[in-house]
Amino acid sequence: MNRFYVTTPIYYVNDVPHIGHAYTTVSADAVARWHRLLGDETMFLTGTDEHGLKIQRAAEENGISPLEQADRTSQRFRDAWVELDISNDQFIRTTEPRHHVAVQELLARAKANGYIEKGSYAGHYCVSCEAYYTDSDLVDGNCPVHERPVEWLEEDNYFFKLSALEAELTEWLSNDTVVPEGKRNEALGIVKLGLDDVSMTRTSIDWGVPVPWDDDHVFYVWYDALINYATAVGFGSDEASFEQWWPEAHHVIGKDILRFHCVYWPAMLMAAGLKPPKKIFVHGFLLLGGKKLSKTGLTQIRPADLIADFGVDGYRYHFLRGVSFGPDSEFSYEGMVERYNSDLANTLGNLLSRVATVVNKKCGGVGPKPRVDSPLAAVAATSYAKAAEAWDNFQPSVALEATWQLVRETNVFLEQNEPWKMDEGSQEVADVLGDALEVLRITAVCASPALTRASQAIWEAIGMEGEVTDQRLPEAASWGAYPGGTTVPKAPPLFPRMKVEG
Ligand code: ME8
Ligand code: MG
Repeated sequence: MNRFYVTTPIYYVNDVPHIGHAYTTVSADAVARWHRLLGDETMFLTGTDEHGLKIQRAAEENGISPLEQADRTSQRFRDAWVELDISNDQFIRTTEPRHHVAVQELLARAKANGYIEKGSYAGHYCVSCEAYYTDSDLVDGNCPVHERPVEWLEEDNYFFKLSALEAELTEWLSNDTVVPEGKRNEALGIVKLGLDDVSMTRTSIDWGVPVPWDDDHVFYVWYDALINYATAVGFGSDEASFEQWWPEAHHVIGKDILRFHCVYWPAMLMAAGLKPPKKIFVHGFLLLGGKKLSKTGLTQIRPADLIADFGVDGYRYHFLRGVSFGPDSEFSYEGMVERYNSDLANTLGNLLSRVATVVNKKCGGVGPKPRVDSPLAAVAATSYAKAAEAWDNFQPSVALEATWQLVRETNVFLEQNEPWKMDEGSQEVADVLGDALEVLRITAVCASPALTRASQAIWEAIGMEGEVTDQRLPEAASWGAYPGGTTVPKAPPLFPRMKVEG
């Protein structure tokens, strides 16, 4: 049995979820769902990052305790993920006791191995990033990520001897560990420039995980946060579980946190005598009018606003199909309407409603069997092979395009054969419709990582029993499994067309 462990970043609880967070989470969710279809034992983790100065200040502004701040906002993330049909197996919070135990254990090991030492530090600090910057990192004196002023902080603290791990990191990054390639080179570039030791504890705040060997300090939030990925699969509490899952760890992140995940995190693991993650998938930013959709910026779009207009399936499909995983991508509402209409209403929805209508008119509402030697069999095989490879490489847009290629070709096949003009009850009409029904069955399975609801609706509309998510690949995508003889009700429109607002 294969195992697959996939994580999203854990999101800060200073503000509520927006479509940028949802993009990462939906992408990881779709890939997790694909692995479940493959029969892999899958663990999908998301959660919230609840310590640090940023949270402490947000709580102060709201006149509540940091834990109340965390409780409230963490719940907003949970709720957002329920609304988007996110299938996470766990939701971790860094304020959980099991996480404190794991952080203290992992960093105590790093210290015992000689990678943590005391020193003093001064630097430019961006509270939004929870990170120090050097003079040369700043852009016009501002944080390079948030374009906002930084603060000068000085403190006595413990240092992580990152510089001692340069060679090991270079070696790790020279394999296929960070995807896409451009992002791997970026990480490699950071290491090649030379790594400074980094300050990893604070005395100025107490909202964090206490340093086990020195009461005056808490760990700086990033060094606690990254460890969540290990905590969730049992580090510090269930070593057997950790040993099973950790070698299969895949992290999905945005490019803003590449340095922490692709340099610091593998280094922390190495320092503690553990293996770095198996793979890190890095995506670009969603942009709106050229600006990152950011909690700290002015532009704010809530997933719920878009779900109200497009439905959960329309939402998920848009970001999975419309945003290629890696580069930055401009979001536009009009583009979302366009894609919904073309791919969901006119292509997939249209195929189902046409087939159901003609099966009712010409075959007494009973679905015929597909032909073994159907011209669509080879198209379906190619489509599946492409989709499977793309899901495996974490390219949902490529995978869905491959699946939609099959749907489009089947619409063309219907237009060429015109079953609506054929004789009722003829072999001819049964052949064409049986083939089209088989495509709908395969599509329901292959599209289910994106369309969590419509895939089951299609499954039932063609008379299949049970849950589409209980099907197993690759068998469920191979030609000829549609049994025929099942009742095909006249399907209501799956994706009513949307009007483009003028
Ligand atoms: O960085 N486009 O949390 P965070 C695409 N707590 N993705 C976006 C995005 C955008 N415009 N804006 C945000 C943190 N994201 C830390 C992580 S992990 C151990 C700790 C997504 O709440 C993207 O995945 O600022 C990005 O990496 C993440 O949200 C940052 O979320
Ligand atoms: Mg951020």
